[in-house]
Amino acid sequence: MPESVSVQKIIEDIEEKRTRVAIIGLGYVGLPLTVEFARAGFRVCGFEVDVSRVEAIKRGENYIQDVPDELLTDLVRRKMIVASTDFSLLPEQDVICICVPTPLNKTGDPDLSFILKVLQEVKRYLRPGHIVVLESTTYPGTTEEILLPGLQKKGLTVGKDFFLAFSPERIDPGNKQFGAHNTPKVIGGVTPACGQVVSALYSRVLEKVVSVSSPRSAEMVKLLENTFRSINIGLVNELAIICNLLKIDIWEVIDAAATKPFGFMPFYPGPGLGGHCIPVDPSYLSWKLRSMNYRARFIELARDINLAMPAYVVQKVANALNETSLCVRGAKILVLGVSYKRDIDDIRESPALDIIRLLREKGGQVIYHDPHIPSFSFDGETLHSADLTPETLSSQDCAIIVTDHSAVDYLQVVENCPLVVDTRNATRGLQPSSSKIVKL
Ligand SMILES: NC(=O)c1ccc[n+]([C@@H]2O[C@H](COP(=O)([O-])OP(=O)(O)OC[C@H]3O[C@@H](n4cnc5c(N)ncnc54)[C@H](O)[C@@H]3O)[C@@H](O)[C@H]2O)c1
Repeated sequence: MPESVSVQKIIEDIEEKRTRVAIIGLGYVGLPLTVEFARAGFRVCGFEVDVSRVEAIKRGENYIQDVPDELLTDLVRRKMIVASTDFSLLPEQDVICICVPTPLNKTGDPDLSFILKVLQEVKRYLRPGHIVVLESTTYPGTTEEILLPGLQKKGLTVGKDFFLAFSPERIDPGNKQFGAHNTPKVIGGVTPACGQVVSALYSRVLEKVVSVSSPRSAEMVKLLENTFRSINIGLVNELAIICNLLKIDIWEVIDAAATKPFGFMPFYPGPGLGGHCIPVDPSYLSWKLRSMNYRARFIELARDINLAMPAYVVQKVANALNETSLCVRGAKILVLGVSYKRDIDDIRESPALDIIRLLREKGGQVIYHDPHIPSFSFDGETLHSADLTPETLSSQDCAIIVTDHSAVDYLQVVENCPLVVDTRNATRGLQPSSSKIVKL
């Protein structure tokens, strides 16, 4: 074994921060990770296919909400972070972290095309001593069944000549308490040496590292976490429908249940799931199991319930308008909040998009307000956020609170709009003088 591939030397380099880190994919996951490595004293090169993102980094400009602007600018100025579209620079790097998207395709199956494309580049430039870490969420087996055979084709042996691990990204956009730095990082190496070097690396950068026995365990950890959320949200969404039929306030029930100091964890109903993780990741697991002739029933049931929530909200709006002798056709409807969750600027998979589409199909005249999304493309046109003034509100027949951003003045909303459908309990405790509030 050549000297350069000794595990001891690799760990020494990590400890002395001589190790150079490549992050492939500079999005919601890759850019915060880049900043964490650079902040800890490692030189990082970000690899991106989106040229505008590479140019932004080169100018020291941040484009991800959770990354502090000044920190990124400073790290770029000190050349701790560089960015490139040129993968031939990979041999100069020691670590390669892969943070590319893992969406679903049109038929709802895993789309690994981004990972496969990166694999081609990594395979081409793999050299002895490289440490490769897959961070993208995926089904159990991806690291060992797809990445490993591809990389070993170079004639290099894993755990001896190069090192391979899976480490799920657990970032929660908009979370002020837990970011990349203080969220424990799970690591599963293909061999014990792989786990050892990757743990040594991450423990120099992040507060806590949790080792598991294999990449497939680490892959499953991420899917357990997100499936747990998806199923609990599906359960509470169904309970919201049940409580509605029984004329019980679900929000009051959850608040009271949450006073139990053990054995209960509150989840809240809403207009449906959004984002790149919770609506997508459990389908990676159920797809894998379908290929093994097993049907993951909990996952599929929760998915069905969660997917039906936008239509349920639209039905609530139609019923509420009906109470005031109006119908959706021709009604002026304001959607409040289009990002998929509170205080973030991401509209991927947002239920607001389904709600807008369904209302428009029924002839509703829909506008939106979102302090974090000034405009967005929707079915071939660009929609712009309306100003949230008393005049705008009073000119509407109905406002639907889809995302409960903290910058919105909900008292102003209920005092000025005649009808408010609240899917998030944002109007909790408010008692408007004249308008009507309908809760999920
Ligand atoms: N966003 C989240 O909250 C979150 C949280 C945890 C895990 N994840 C997982 O992390 C992964 C990345 O998600 P994201 O939200 O950061 O996606 P993203 O779309 O924000 O970023 C991905 C980046 O990868 C780039 N890219 C695509 N193909 C590339 C290639 N061949 N080479 C280099 N760059 C390429 C894209 O241009 C984009 O900038 C996914 O698997 C996702 O499920 C996301």
